[in-house]
Amino acid sequence: METLIDRLEQTRHLDERGLRALLTTTDTGAVEHLHRRARAVAQAHYGTGIYVRGLIELTNVCRNDCLYCGIRRSNHHVERYTLTAEQVLSCCEQGYRLGFRTLVLQGGEWSDDRAGWIADLVGEMRRRWPDCAITLSLGEHSREVYSLWRDSGADRYLLRHETHNRAHYSRLHPAEMSRDHRLQCLRWLRELDYQVGTGIMVGSPWQTVDHLVEDLQFMAEFGPQMVGLGPFIAQHDTPLGGYPNGTADMTTRLYSIVRLMLPTALIPSTTALATLSPEGRLQGILAGANVVMPNLSPSDQRANYALYDGKASTGAEAAEGIRRLESQLATIGYHIDWSRGDHRG
Ligand code: 5AD
Repeated sequence: METLIDRLEQTRHLDERGLRALLTTTDTGAVEHLHRRARAVAQAHYGTGIYVRGLIELTNVCRNDCLYCGIRRSNHHVERYTLTAEQVLSCCEQGYRLGFRTLVLQGGEWSDDRAGWIADLVGEMRRRWPDCAITLSLGEHSREVYSLWRDSGADRYLLRHETHNRAHYSRLHPAEMSRDHRLQCLRWLRELDYQVGTGIMVGSPWQTVDHLVEDLQFMAEFGPQMVGLGPFIAQHDTPLGGYPNGTADMTTRLYSIVRLMLPTALIPSTTALATLSPEGRLQGILAGANVVMPNLSPSDQRANYALYDGKASTGAEAAEGIRRLESQLATIGYHIDWSRGDHRG
C-alpha cells in the first residue's frame, strides 16, 4: 500500500485499481502514510501557511431543487433572504479590516435576469478593494453571464460538479439539471480565464467507490485550481434527510489523494467537515488541505443558510473567531497566510 502511495506522489497518477485500493483500505498505517505524504506535498508548495477566504452568503433564494440541499426551492421551511448591496459591502469592509484578501460571494442560483445586479456589486467590490481576489459561487449560468461577471472583476469561480457519474447525478438532482450541463459550465468558466474550483459531496446517497474513482479521474484530467470536498450531511427538510452522513475518514482520504494528484491545488478544509466533528478542520489540514473559509455573513442571517443540519457558523468558523482559528492552527504548527493566496501553478 505504501508503494502505491509513493507512486501516486511521484507520478501524480494511479490507475483505477490503485485508487480503489486507497479508498477502501482498512490499513490505518497506510492511511496515515497517505495523509503524511499529502501534508508534505502541500507544505512543499505552500509551507505551513493556510489561506483564508471571507465567505459571504449573499442569498438563500434558489431556483434549483437539488434533493440534498436545505435551500432547495421546494423547502418551504426556510425563511428566504437576500442581502442588500450595502450589507454585502459592509461585510466586505469588515472582512478587509480583519485582513481578508479574498472575498467569496456564495448563494443560491438565480435566474440570469438578475445577473446585472451581481455584476454591479462585483464591480463596486473591485473598485473599493482592488487588492482582493473576488470569488463567485452562484451556480450555473450562461456563458454570457459568466463573461459579464468576469469583466466586472471576478477572478475565481466555485462550482462543484457534485458527482461525475451521470446516473448518480440524476438521482441527486431534478430532471431539469444534468451532469453534462454542469461540466459545460466548468468549461466556459475555464475559457473565460477564471481560476476554477470544482469538487464533490463525499458520501452522498448512492455514491459508490467507483463513482469516487470516476470523480478523481475527472479532476485529474480537468485540473481545477481549487477543489472543494465536504461530507454529505443530511438536512431534515429535504427528500434525502433520512440518509446517513458522509464520513470524515473518506473526506480526508480524498483531500490527500487530490493533493498528490494535483500538488498545487487550493483545497479548503470545509465547514461540512468541521460540522461532523470538532477536530474536522485540523484533520483536513493534516490531510493536505491548505485553505479555510470563515463566514463573514451577518450573524442574524446565518441560520437561514442551512444547506445541511448543524452547519457550523460560529466559533472558529466565523470571521470574528479568527483569533481562535489562529490558535487552533498553531497547535499543529500552522498559521494563517493573509495574502490573496492565488494558485501557484
Ligand atoms: N450536505 C453537504 N453539502 C451540501 N451542499 C449542499 N447541500 C449539502 C448537504 N446536504 C454543498 C454542495 C454545494 C455546496 C455549496 O454545498 O456540494 O455545491
